[in-house]
Amino acid sequence: MPLYQIFSIQSHTKVYIWKITESFNELFRSVILKDVSLARVEKMKAESHQKGFLAVRKLLEIAGYDDFDLFYDDFGKPNLKDQKHISISHSNEFSVIAISDYNLGIDLEILKDKTLKLAPRYMDVSHLENLSTADALEKATIIWGIKESIFKIKNEPGISFKDHIFENKFNGKDGKCKAELRFENQLELFEIQYQLIENYVLVVAFMSV
Ligand SMILES: CC(C)(COP(=O)(O)OP(=O)(O)OC[C@H]1O[C@@H](n2cnc3c(N)ncnc32)[C@H](O)[C@@H]1OP(=O)(O)O)[C@@H](O)C(=O)NCCC(=O)NCCS
Repeated sequence: MPLYQIFSIQSHTKVYIWKITESFNELFRSVILKDVSLARVEKMKAESHQKGFLAVRKLLEIAGYDDFDLFYDDFGKPNLKDQKHISISHSNEFSVIAISDYNLGIDLEILKDKTLKLAPRYMDVSHLENLSTADALEKATIIWGIKESIFKIKNEPGISFKDHIFENKFNGKDGKCKAELRFENQLELFEIQYQLIENYVLVVAFMSV
């Protein structure tokens, strides 16, 4: 099943989701890559990573772009040649892109026990108190996704998930919350949306205006 879902966030942002069921060859034959992208695909060790990268190019096509419209800065943040912003994530069998009038971050994470086990390393575990294991896993995964998404917006070396990005208290079920970046004597606020997609958590973050 190639294109899985497209949804809008207000009128400024569109999110495109691909569920990868194709073989590497099927995907590879169906996209045109520039040389630098071809070299990246050839260097990737895992076929799942290659397929995730190629599925992103399929989503670009659906959004009206191609691989030649996408370029990366020195830290790996993707940009489009026009004025729109883009953020990209891939996880196992899903790839997602979000295209927006605003700088944004998107992250897709599969639900896996390790995310909960590692929670003390990246979050305030008091936010998981009194939850069932399943709900705690879901919420920890959302919080991990929040931190990844905010990192993708800011793209600044030195930002630590644990020391600089803080999620406000939220219940983990109503699809939205707020978070803060406290970094280099500045406080920035972010609006977060999240949802479950099968056994994955999708998080989208925007800077508060
Ligand atoms: C860059 C980073 C956010 C990528 O996240 P990830 O979960 O590994 O992978 P995802 O699939 O969600 O995202 C990968 C995409 O992010 C984008 N990306 C990579 N670096 C980026 C950056 N500096 N800024 C914004 N986007 C970036 C790319 O589009 C990439 O996919 P592509 O190269 O195939 O186009 C992450 O690896 C990272 O470095 N985080 C910061 C380091 C950190 O603090 N880690 C944990 C501390 S406890």
